[in-house]
Amino acid sequence: MMCSKEYMELAENSILHTYNRFPVVLEKGEGVYLYDLDGKKYLDFGAGIAVFALGYGNEEYNEALKIQIDKLIHTSNLYYNTPMAEAAHKLLKASGMSRVFFTNSGTEAIEGAIKAARKYAWLKDNSTDHEIIAMRHSFHGRSLGALSVTGNSHYQEPFKPLIGGVKFADFNDLDSVKAAVTEKTCAIILETVQGEGGIYPAEEGFLKGVKKLCEEKDILLILDEIQCGMGRTGSMFAWQAYGTEPDIMTCAKALGCGVPVGAFVLGEKAAEKSLEPGDHGTTYGGNPLACAAVSKVFDLFEKQDILHHVQEISGYLEKKLDGLVDKYEFLSERRGKGLMQGLEVAGRPVGEIVSKALENGLIVISAGNHVLRFVPPLIVTREHIDEMIEKLEKSF
Ligand SMILES: Cc1ncc(COP(=O)(O)O)c(C=O)c1O
Repeated sequence: MMCSKEYMELAENSILHTYNRFPVVLEKGEGVYLYDLDGKKYLDFGAGIAVFALGYGNEEYNEALKIQIDKLIHTSNLYYNTPMAEAAHKLLKASGMSRVFFTNSGTEAIEGAIKAARKYAWLKDNSTDHEIIAMRHSFHGRSLGALSVTGNSHYQEPFKPLIGGVKFADFNDLDSVKAAVTEKTCAIILETVQGEGGIYPAEEGFLKGVKKLCEEKDILLILDEIQCGMGRTGSMFAWQAYGTEPDIMTCAKALGCGVPVGAFVLGEKAAEKSLEPGDHGTTYGGNPLACAAVSKVFDLFEKQDILHHVQEISGYLEKKLDGLVDKYEFLSERRGKGLMQGLEVAGRPVGEIVSKALENGLIVISAGNHVLRFVPPLIVTREHIDEMIEKLEKSF
């Protein structure tokens, strides 16, 4: 068997260098712990970037996937399959929305949402110059449509021209959104809690104001719940705590808890008048294996009472992180909702803290250049939080 160093070299010599990876080869997981090839144990407060909500090695989840693998892995969308029907039903029940389209990733869910919004507007006036308002410091993915609504010029610049008609406004600033609206606006897209941009929850007045604006002008509200959805903030979808239903919602990450799957979900209005047969497609989307995962994730959220647990435990995490802000001068603020938390770091490179933590057996990740991000599996306990704080302080 090859050693870690050899695997890293093999990867570096063959995989396109678009990531600066940490020098660790992860091999297996158990609960909220990961193990590398050399057997070193890590407490995981990154969950594969807010993906592995149920923790590693959940027996029922693994069993459901094994059973599906033995039955049927793929069929295409030319036919029906049972996990797709079940997963769709459960996702709609959890969201109260009308129709779902399964994708293979978050970025593809955003592409679908953009197409649905444009088609909705096109059906009204047949014009092809509709506009979308997105937020500065947002992140929606790397494909060209999703990149076009991602408010980060560093990610966008080399790939221009992007899709046209996108305007940017300031998150949590209703006036700036109002100022960007024109007759041509077909959609406003935002993350209910901004993730990559540094963990900024939408303020209630802002989200409600945007929703009202959308209703008045018949603009579709697209809420990106790819990172903040699926129980992470203590409700199944973050918007539910605000009582602000989107016209289109995007999901991915914890939707499949590790199996690549995403979805865009339409409310009644968008479902009735947007995408029709022939307008959109995917070979893999709605694949039986991915949908068996989605279906089981919803079952286990209910069985393990995940939402209740997140509501209970997150106060403890907040208290502990607030304690760090009080104690260390270079930490200026804690922000977040539920088990999606960030610490604003001033005057120290976040990357160095992340690397040091890794050495100390703790996985935390950054969000942008100034924020330490905490997005653990949703099954974390007080003991895990205490262990995380201890390891993090050692890394400071
Ligand atoms: C809010 C948000 N939207 C979209 C994406 C893109 O999802 P994916 O990486 O699955 O394409 C991400 C990924 O980090 C995200 O956090």
